[in-house]
Amino acid sequence: MKDLDRLAAPGTSERELLDRLAPESLPRHVAVIMDGNGRWARQRGLPRVEGHRAGIRAVRESVEAAARLELEALTLYAFSTENWKRPRWEVRTLMALLKEYLAKELRTMVDNNVRFRPIGRLSELEPEIQASLARAVEATAGNTGLVFQIALNYSGRAELVDMVRAAVAAAQGGTLTAPTVDEEWVGSHLATAGVPDPDLLIRTSGELRVSNFLLWQIAYAELHFTPVLWPDFTTRDLLAAVADYARRERRYGGVVEPGHDNGEEAGD
Ligand code: FPP
Repeated sequence: MKDLDRLAAPGTSERELLDRLAPESLPRHVAVIMDGNGRWARQRGLPRVEGHRAGIRAVRESVEAAARLELEALTLYAFSTENWKRPRWEVRTLMALLKEYLAKELRTMVDNNVRFRPIGRLSELEPEIQASLARAVEATAGNTGLVFQIALNYSGRAELVDMVRAAVAAAQGGTLTAPTVDEEWVGSHLATAGVPDPDLLIRTSGELRVSNFLLWQIAYAELHFTPVLWPDFTTRDLLAAVADYARRERRYGGVVEPGHDNGEEAGD
């Protein structure tokens, strides 16, 4: 493991970084709160939307890197239920960028065996966007590699509200009883059903919040905060976060000590 300390040192090639990461130490699912587009643009005297445009490169690079790392899932937070409060032109640009991204990247997703899965209250998005999303879902439905989840009009609380509504409706319809509801039931009625919970949550731009992202699913995620602004986020930054994760000792509320049976202890 001590090699990992030097993993992301300048001068180490991406290939070397990849080779040094033991497959069993990799996260299965990485989630990212992409933040800092506006600040990136402001630093350059550009309109905020230019930061979003520049952020697309980082999206493309992260998806490709996650596929190369053979992660099971990558979830990117692209648009929250709160983001509608932004100026109309900014919302429009974000949606236009999404459409452009899908049009340009669909072929690459198909070729790289990536399965595209938007999550969030998609029915509230413009019909044209919904149609683009549906096309990408359909075109990649048979793929078996990385599941690329993009959170759009998403918030963790809204997702939980939707799950509770579904539970109440099922109970009223007579198909659900209280004892049937357990953690597995809840997990399988969230937008991320079928995908393992994130092992690693990355947030860029130096902010230290989880901002209503995957609230149920990140219960045991390792958190990695980096000052890098999203448009500057590269494969190296992803690999550095993964290396940081690989160093962590995950206890899931138990203890990890040589010779200990690892049961019953409360903790983090
Ligand atoms: C946060 O930066 C970023 C977002 C709200 C949107 C993320 C969107 C992209 C990376 C581009 C769109 C990508 C796709 C695939 C649609 P911010 O604007 O809150 O930055 P700030 O905190 O510096 O102002």
